[in-house]
Formats: sequence, structure tokens, C-alpha cells
Amino acid sequence: MATLEIRDLHVSVEADNATKEILKGVDLTVKQGETHAIMGPNGSGKSTLAYSLAGHPKYTITSGSVTLDGEDVLEMTVDERARAGLFLAMQYPVEIPGVSVSNFLRTSATAVRGEAPKLRTWVKEVKETMGRLQMDPAFAERNVNEGFSGGEKKRHEILQLELLKPKVAILDETDSGLDVDALRIVSEGVNRVRETGEVGTLLITHYTRILRYIKPDFVHVFANGRIAESGGAELADKLENEGYEAYVKGGPVSGANSGGAVA
Ligand SMILES: Nc1ncnc2c1ncn2[C@@H]1O[C@H](COP(=O)(O)OP(=O)(O)O)[C@@H](O)[C@H]1O
Ligand SMILES: [Mg+2]
Repeated sequence: MATLEIRDLHVSVEADNATKEILKGVDLTVKQGETHAIMGPNGSGKSTLAYSLAGHPKYTITSGSVTLDGEDVLEMTVDERARAGLFLAMQYPVEIPGVSVSNFLRTSATAVRGEAPKLRTWVKEVKETMGRLQMDPAFAERNVNEGFSGGEKKRHEILQLELLKPKVAILDETDSGLDVDALRIVSEGVNRVRETGEVGTLLITHYTRILRYIKPDFVHVFANGRIAESGGAELADKLENEGYEAYVKGGPVSGANSGGAVA
């Protein structure tokens, strides 16, 4: 059973010639087969956590540890993390001009699996997965994310997720900008992957609506760069009703972030 363990993670960025600490001691354990929702207000550091786990060079880990099956993730390059089984669906997927979706997927699968997938079965697998996500086959020949609508970008992220079969998937605001139909299709894709029981999912979201389709085992409230409270699915209902205000202002966890917010 693969386990991602995040311990007392502190992360900073350089901005305007100053170092700003964004993550202030994140502790989280995600096991294969589990779904964890991370919910929090804008600017609380959710995407920073996702990027830090994926190895984005902009984010400096100042202390703490991240391991996957006991292996030090922070020592790994971005490629090594992907090969180890980490997957990130970004909040704002980037365009890759000149690279078609079909080439991108095959290259990614080859890199992650360590060998090129057999062409015949691969083409079939891609086609079937695209069909389930209600993506037009012509989509495969377009350049990655170039001119994609918000919904197309998110479907493309889930297409990668389904094909690459990671051990731990981090989905950053996969629900943002989706209409109801696209939200359902994307959620069904995530649920197909979850039902294999072979992936641990970290579902980062601002709104509770995706949790109507994807039922988390655990809900964590993220505020001021750390987890302020953890609970079961019922915690999401509480957030739906009460919002994040209590957490931003110091929150129910005493001593979690005493003193006012430091801008
Ligand atoms: N690359 C960056 N450069 C400067 N500031 C950043 C950078 N990334 C994030 N931040 C800052 O860190 C804070 C948390 O941002 P982010 O992780 O995107 O939050 P969330 O995803 O929860 O909305 C914000 O104040 C944001 O401006
Ligand atoms: Mg974000």
C-alpha cells in the first residue's frame, strides 16, 4: 500500500525581493485507496502545497519532509516524482505549443511506465478513455491546452490521470470553471480511478459542490498555510453552511496561528 507522508512542511517563495513563508507546518498522510479533500479560502496556500509536492522550482522547502513509501520525495526531480507515482492536475494547466495531446500522452505514459505502451492497445485505451470523458477524438490532434476551454483543460487532466494510473493524485481545483455536466463527467472519471482502490486522492477545492459527486473519506480545512481542522465528510457540510471565516480569524484550533494574519 503506497503512502504519501507530509510532515511539518514549511515552504517559502521569493516575491518582491523578500522571502515569504506560505506553508507553515503541513502534516498529512494519504494512503492508496483514500480520498482526502483539502478545502480552504483563496490564498491559503493550497496550490502552493500541490506545486511543492510536484517539485515546482519556484517553491523552496525550508523544513519538513515528504515521503512516498518511505522514499524521500523532496530529493527527487520532477520526472522521478512522476515515475514514483505522483500525479498533479494543475489549477491552471499550461499550454504546450507544437505538442499534440496524443504525443503528449504517449510520451508521458512512456516516461512513467519506463517503456513505450504497445501501440495497438494504447490507441484503443486512449480512445475508450476519451469516449468516457465525452471528448471528441479530433481533440487528440490538437496542441496541449492551446485554445482549450476551461472544461476541456480539466477533462484533459482527468484523461491523463486515467491513463497514467498514479499512486497518489493531487487534483487542484479540478472543479473550477466547470458547468454541471462537465463537473459530473470529470467527477465520474475521478471516481473510476478511485474505484480501482489503487490511488490515493488529494482533492483540493474551494467549493463543496464537487463533493456531491466525489465522496471524500477525510476533509481537511486549510487556512493560513496549514491544516486547521480535520474530520470526515460531515466537515464539508459544516463548511458549506458556515464558510471559512472562523478559521481565517484564528480558527477553532487554539494556538494554530495566534496573532493576526501577517501580510
Ligand atoms: N509563485 C509565487 N510568487 C509569489 N507569491 C506566491 C506564489 N505562489 C503563491 N504565492 C502567494 O502565496 C499565497 C498562497 O497562494 P496559493 O497557494 O495559490 O493559494 P490557494 O491555492 O489556496 O488559493 C498567496 O498569498 C499567493 O499570492
Ligand atoms: Mg489555488
